Amino acid sequence: MRIADFALERYFARWEFAVRHVLCASDVEPLSLVEALALADDDARRRWETLGLGYTESAGLPALRGEIAGLYPTLGADDVLTFAGAEEGVFIAMHALLTAGDHAVVVWPAYQSLFEIARSIGASITFVPLDPRDWSLDVDAVAAAMRPNTRVIVVNFPHSPTGAQLAPVQFARLVAIAELHGAHLFSDEVYRFLEHDRAPLPPAASASPRGISLGVMSKAFGMAGVRIGWLATTDAALRARLAALRDYTTICNSAPSEILALIGLRARAPLIDRAHQVLTSNLALLDEFFDRSSRFTWVRPRAGSVCFPALVDGDIERFAAELVERAGVLLLPSSQFGMAGNHFRVGFGRRDMPVALERLSEFVERWR
Ligand SMILES: Cc1ncc(COP(=O)(O)O)c(C=O)c1O
Repeated sequence: MRIADFALERYFARWEFAVRHVLCASDVEPLSLVEALALADDDARRRWETLGLGYTESAGLPALRGEIAGLYPTLGADDVLTFAGAEEGVFIAMHALLTAGDHAVVVWPAYQSLFEIARSIGASITFVPLDPRDWSLDVDAVAAAMRPNTRVIVVNFPHSPTGAQLAPVQFARLVAIAELHGAHLFSDEVYRFLEHDRAPLPPAASASPRGISLGVMSKAFGMAGVRIGWLATTDAALRARLAALRDYTTICNSAPSEILALIGLRARAPLIDRAHQVLTSNLALLDEFFDRSSRFTWVRPRAGSVCFPALVDGDIERFAAELVERAGVLLLPSSQFGMAGNHFRVGFGRRDMPVALERLSEFVERWR
């Protein structure tokens, strides 16, 4: 298989554990193992204490799949397959949906795997860009991009890196476009439950048999390190294909991770509240910062844990390189998304964001 490097992930591999402050992380402050176990109900504690370290069921622990299904109106445990993070779900789904010569429509900018895997399979891609003035999506442009061989529309709302969100009617139109063309709607919903107005969109998997919802423990639930993600869809033939492909990647989940994910999902209400507390207080600081700084512009995010401001003057590559070198603060320039220009991703899900922002603020005062 020939595939281009995943620029953002290579960048994180280089920097994430070598800097003092990751001011561009997309996850929410991770729980410690002790904090997670303290949330366990009696059943989950018993499962944890008596857990065998053998292979696990390839679709995922039935109780875990049931808990995941509870996040979706109308779905049952059988509609859910679990994977090693969202990332394995993306990889498997694209291989299940596409072959060489197929076409995919992808909203841009995008987390690279959302289009790079399709490209590596030999599919052609039409990107539909968000409008940089407010990061809105022109749904008509999605409709116009459809071709007879379009197999999938790929969207990601709440959106990374911009923090954009769709209106429910726009999402309903995307569902209708996919259905009209007999395509699937692959909806990366990894930032679901982080909507700042606390009003999630209907998930794709509940909206249509053509819908596929991607979810994960990494963001709202603060458990990126358990590496549990999932795909939900009522399309049984597709699920069979997804399950068969997984035999060539990880086969099944890590047993301890399944129980930790089960604990996290059963405690979802306090975990989602915890995530919103961090996001709300950090967003207030970002509001202040961008209001008083003439060096940056930004579109205030509406959902999720990331946003995509821009440096007004100067080169963001040089700025980010000097910032990390002199102040130990990591930003993610738009080049990592294959985008020209001076945008950069800021993550505001971490508890050290106030200190990181302070350092950025001091640095930018002196930077020429
Ligand atoms: C939009 C999007 N999709 C998928 C993923 C992959 O999630 P995970 O790393 O939890 O597998 C990420 C990770 O940051 C993401 O931002």
